Amino acid sequence: MLKIITVFGTRPEAIKMAPLVKELAKCRGEIDCKVAVTAQHREMLDQVLALFEIRPDYDLDIMRRRQTLFDITCRALAGLREVFEAEKPGLVLVHGDTTTTFAAALAAYYLQIPVGHVEAGLRTRDKFSPFPEEINRRLTGALADLHFAPTANARRNLLGEGVRGENIFVTGNTVIDALLATVKPGYIFADPVLSRIDYENRRVLLITTHRRENLGGPMREIYQALREVVENYRDVEVVFPVHKNPAVRNVVSEELGGLDRVRLIEPLDYQPFANLIKHSYLVLSDSGGLQEEAPALGKPVLVLRGTTERPEAVDAGTVRLVGTGRETVVSETRRLLDDSVFYGKMANAANPYGDGFASKRIIQAIKHKFGISGETFEEFRPC
Ligand code: UD1
Ligand code: UDP
Repeated sequence: MLKIITVFGTRPEAIKMAPLVKELAKCRGEIDCKVAVTAQHREMLDQVLALFEIRPDYDLDIMRRRQTLFDITCRALAGLREVFEAEKPGLVLVHGDTTTTFAAALAAYYLQIPVGHVEAGLRTRDKFSPFPEEINRRLTGALADLHFAPTANARRNLLGEGVRGENIFVTGNTVIDALLATVKPGYIFADPVLSRIDYENRRVLLITTHRRENLGGPMREIYQALREVVENYRDVEVVFPVHKNPAVRNVVSEELGGLDRVRLIEPLDYQPFANLIKHSYLVLSDSGGLQEEAPALGKPVLVLRGTTERPEAVDAGTVRLVGTGRETVVSETRRLLDDSVFYGKMANAANPYGDGFASKRIIQAIKHKFGISGETFEEFRPC
């Protein structure tokens, strides 16, 4: 029987791997599936594990306060070596572009275990943006044997780098599987801060920031821009679930602490967070996942970065790259608050990233490649 170990370590990987772990569990009898988490994130990972009721078989518990890239890489590589040596899987599945992703792919490669890369082929082609994710993703791609590309554009990137077409599968993004299973009509927030907001009469700006290249000055500018916006619009309310990174938290509280209509809250569980996107007017974020989720829910996103590896929603018109400069963030936000025609054009639901069946397709592809139950593969085509 094929033994698969699925590896992840941070919140976004967990959200995007959870639907696949659930789907793999249904293949008992054909596939033996185990889960190893590095816990590069601790609390933010545990939130997702609890929501999706995933109990890892291995938990390396590597997170340290203010950890460096060296810390994460060394701890993950050493810990996963032991897991893989003990389990001898036939395939290791990794996701995306984190340092856990890269270390897991490298550990598998050193032991000559095949690697399947979920969310493969996204590129900015800028080595330092996002940092270190662009290179993590490229290196993982170099180590991988099976490439699960979410979109046709990601496949083109891989083909352009010499990956053979027969090893690339366009599946859609599993984040849409997770999102569609989580956003519910009439959802009621349990958190009193969120349940007290008057969503009919207030325009909620949902904010997240965490990128390493934005730490320090760029984040300070973003927060100063937000401050200016909220002071000038009486009907605007900012909801900001603040990442656990102390380097983010310190600047957030210096620039936005104690302001009226600015709710600085702990990272939200995925269920309230996904439903909060649906209740928001606009999302401002340097997150990768939000660039995929918000368009699916018809919410404009201003991306607080200079580059994106997710051009599909930019092309669809629901996402704009605005960078981190204070003046630009203010003017782009004002435009969406003042110009309802412009807002309406951006607020169109677009779903270039998935249809809710990405996990099923990934399993189809694995079964197809490993000759399990004569499975064939049908690729994702956005409608
Ligand atoms: C990591 C990933 C990034 C991903 C992001 C998602 C790398 C190099 N970075 O960045 O690709 O987009 O996760 O959020 O792989 N912390 C806690 N509790 C938690 C999580 C983090 O206290 O549950 C704090 C710790 O002090 C930690 C710091 O946040 O040292 C930074 O975490 P780290 O994983 O190194 O970087 P992220 O910015 O979260
Ligand atoms: N998210 C969440 N709670 C929060 C903020 C974000 O569950 O308080 C989810 C969000 O919906 C998305 C993922 O976390 O699925 C994005 O994580 P993050 O921005 O940390 O990482 P990235 O996507 O940039 O790698």
